Amino acid sequence: MPATVIIGAQWGDEGKGKIVDRLAESADLVVRYAGGPNAGHTLVVGGEKTVLRLIPSGALHRHTECLLGQGMVVHPAGLLDEIDTLESRGVALTDRLTLSRLAHLILPYHVLVDELREGREGGTKIGTTKRGIGPAYEDKVGRRGLRAGDLEHPRRLRARLEEALATWAPTILALGGEVPDVDAMVTAVMPHAPRLIPLLGDVSAQVETALRDGKRVMLEGAQGTMLDIDNGTYPFVTSSSAVAGGACTGAGIGPTRIARVLGITKAYTTRVGAGPFPTELDDDVGAHLRAVGKEFGSVTGRPRRTGWLDVAALRYARRVNGITGLAVTKLDVLTGLDTLRVCVGYEGASGAANELPDGDALTPVYRTFEGWTESLQGASRLEDLPPPARAYLDFIEEASETPIDLISTGPGRESTIEKTGGF
Ligand code: IMP
Repeated sequence: MPATVIIGAQWGDEGKGKIVDRLAESADLVVRYAGGPNAGHTLVVGGEKTVLRLIPSGALHRHTECLLGQGMVVHPAGLLDEIDTLESRGVALTDRLTLSRLAHLILPYHVLVDELREGREGGTKIGTTKRGIGPAYEDKVGRRGLRAGDLEHPRRLRARLEEALATWAPTILALGGEVPDVDAMVTAVMPHAPRLIPLLGDVSAQVETALRDGKRVMLEGAQGTMLDIDNGTYPFVTSSSAVAGGACTGAGIGPTRIARVLGITKAYTTRVGAGPFPTELDDDVGAHLRAVGKEFGSVTGRPRRTGWLDVAALRYARRVNGITGLAVTKLDVLTGLDTLRVCVGYEGASGAANELPDGDALTPVYRTFEGWTESLQGASRLEDLPPPARAYLDFIEEASETPIDLISTGPGRESTIEKTGGF
């Protein structure tokens, strides 16, 4: 049975966690394939909120195997904390959690460099989550990174640390920081080895075996298309592959193994951090979306930037991901707005465009829709939605040329409308 990929079709925070959790009910394996603890995948089950940063969002289903793929960067203590938090709530992960030997480790100097860069005067500020993501991926592509499998080889690990620290030292000093010593770094990571080593495995082989056995495999992305290192609004992006293609390299499978790509989009748009955001609102509507949608970063607590839905950007996301179906989340947040607007294209210095990204300053071209006042909380059938909400969804399908498979009308598992079958 081929695999399904779940990706963010916007700038992250689309509600992937909730959708993966909902669909994982019928999944055998969920593999997170990119990013690190910059993600905050929020699940609300039985009124209880769980935020997962590294562990795949299928974790709350006790039959689901959870795999952390080689496309990820993993903070050793952070992963153990997350395991402990889940286990303290009765979610046992023993024997169903695997960490790829090939996943890279985030060390304290990665976090230090990220913080120093974001804190300095001048220079391009990305508005990162300061979790060391960029520097950890820099070490990976610089071929001096530490991988989870190195925990089994302390001497090799020490040699790699020495090399990495020698490379980072001039940067740290130039940024006004203090270069940590190798012993301190060994001490930061090695005490976690006894608990992490039993989790190590070959994620690619495990996924292949599962697919051959006809099991249902879900590949969970992190962040969103416009934050993708190659296809996003560079340089205001994260450092990993947030698009569906990243699932192949990040989980170690071939593209022929993937049949379905589910793109998650909010019914409006948000962005955290700096960079282009053509439909951004700096008015009462923007404040409504932030307050009602609780749009504050789940990792950093930063207020998110808010704006209208951008179907031109969605068309771009459809193309670069090969999206086969959409899940539209947070539709309930639009309740109470008199009129709604959707960006259908842009006017730029070099003429009209109907897809992001583009280097120009872009002025959005909008279409206006009638709003609704009815609460959508808990709606679980299409017929529960007021006609203007259905018209809004119909337009998204038509303009993005993509069917909507799922609609989310609240944070809980039950507030989901499945338009087409399940997983
Ligand atoms: P980094 O991934 O911490 O390096 O941050 C790079 C950019 O991606 C910043 O604009 C962050 O705000 C953004 N970003 C990273 N992770 C997430 C996420 O999970 N949701 C939304 N934005 C994110």
